[in-house]
Amino acid sequence: MKTPAPAGARSLYAQLQRTAQTHGDAFYVFEEQVFRQNYASLRAAFEAQYPRTQIAYSYKTNYTPHVCRVIHQLGGFAEVVSEMEFGLARRLGVEGERIIYNGPYKSVASVRDALQAGTIVNIDSRRDYDIVMAEAAAEPGRKNSVGVRCNFELPGVARSRFGFDTGGAEFREVTQGLRRSRNVTLAGLHCHFPSRDLESFGARARGILSIARELFPKPPKFLNLGGGFCGSMPKSLASRQSFKPPTFADYAAAIGEPFAKAYGTSGAAPTLFIEPGTALVANTFKFYARVISLKEVGSRKIATVAGSIFNISPQARTPHLPVRVIRQKGDDGPESPAPYDIAGYTCIEGDYLTRDLIGPVEVGDFVEYRNLGSYSIVMKPPFILPNVPVLSGTGDKAVVLKRGESIDDLFRTFPGA
Ligand SMILES: Cc1ncc(COP(=O)(O)O)c(C=O)c1O
Repeated sequence: MKTPAPAGARSLYAQLQRTAQTHGDAFYVFEEQVFRQNYASLRAAFEAQYPRTQIAYSYKTNYTPHVCRVIHQLGGFAEVVSEMEFGLARRLGVEGERIIYNGPYKSVASVRDALQAGTIVNIDSRRDYDIVMAEAAAEPGRKNSVGVRCNFELPGVARSRFGFDTGGAEFREVTQGLRRSRNVTLAGLHCHFPSRDLESFGARARGILSIARELFPKPPKFLNLGGGFCGSMPKSLASRQSFKPPTFADYAAAIGEPFAKAYGTSGAAPTLFIEPGTALVANTFKFYARVISLKEVGSRKIATVAGSIFNISPQARTPHLPVRVIRQKGDDGPESPAPYDIAGYTCIEGDYLTRDLIGPVEVGDFVEYRNLGSYSIVMKPPFILPNVPVLSGTGDKAVVLKRGESIDDLFRTFPGA
């Protein structure tokens, strides 16, 4: 005997069905409340340890303009890494002083605009330094303050390619050059490393504090530890990490304690910038795609959907995202204990969103993927088909945050197409 489908599952199907009628068979859905909650929890965790913490949201992780607007409403800064992202922050009305400009390739014009606007420009290379100094020399009356990106060894972490090797001659030359400048001040230091475990965050905090002690007789204006924090994730995903995903409170203690010990927490203490992307946005996006056909090939059952692995993991590195099937027939449909491979619409052989998903799955059902808000929408190319819409809410409450792309959108930039 089958139990009837829970009312919630049925009504979710009905909502997805209504959404698909207007927006097509695949779409992303943003959960703003979860995003706001992530921001509030991360901020509270850090402020409890080191009140002078300021969050700067990493635009590159997911620069959906609505998401960025929410961040700025909540008081977050923008962390940008290119002329394009700097331009977006300015279009969204973010004040220059509330933007942090990192990235290895900054156009001269964008550095000029950033310095003019009072943005914190973090110098990544000798080239950045030369641009900043030339721009400062061209406007001798303007005071500029900048940061320098630091690169130092962290135990067990592959050496990053960003910033200056703090043990090298270039770092000394650049920091000394800034010290000598009449109108450029070295206001702080930045670092970012490609690791998410707690130990590495403790090590980067101690590392930057030790460099700051050598460089600044008085506390600098800011010290920036970059991004890379884990967000909250379901157990199924947590168990696949090579380390235990830290909580926000864990990170805040590992970083905030040494900061508070070094500088206290008074007004003279440096601002601690953190630049989370993934921690704020990963669990706030879902992706839905309709099952469009079923087939059997050899011993395998394949369900092809109106989406692709590139929608949920553009580098096809994360084939284990949490997934469930939202069934048209609820639990009343036929049983199918044999597992299905959920395949994408592209012509890539390996385009599978999930392997061995336990059925049942029927044409018309939707697959729902969770925890995919970071580095998905921004890295998805229009390969084979134009990109699908991004919505907030479903059914009658759906609001378009990005409309689905059309063929015209795509080929506008190819003359004669
Ligand atoms: C300088 C900088 N800050 C912040 C981030 C955000 O990282 P995540 O999305 O992992 O938090 C990155 C990511 O590459 C980065 O390069």
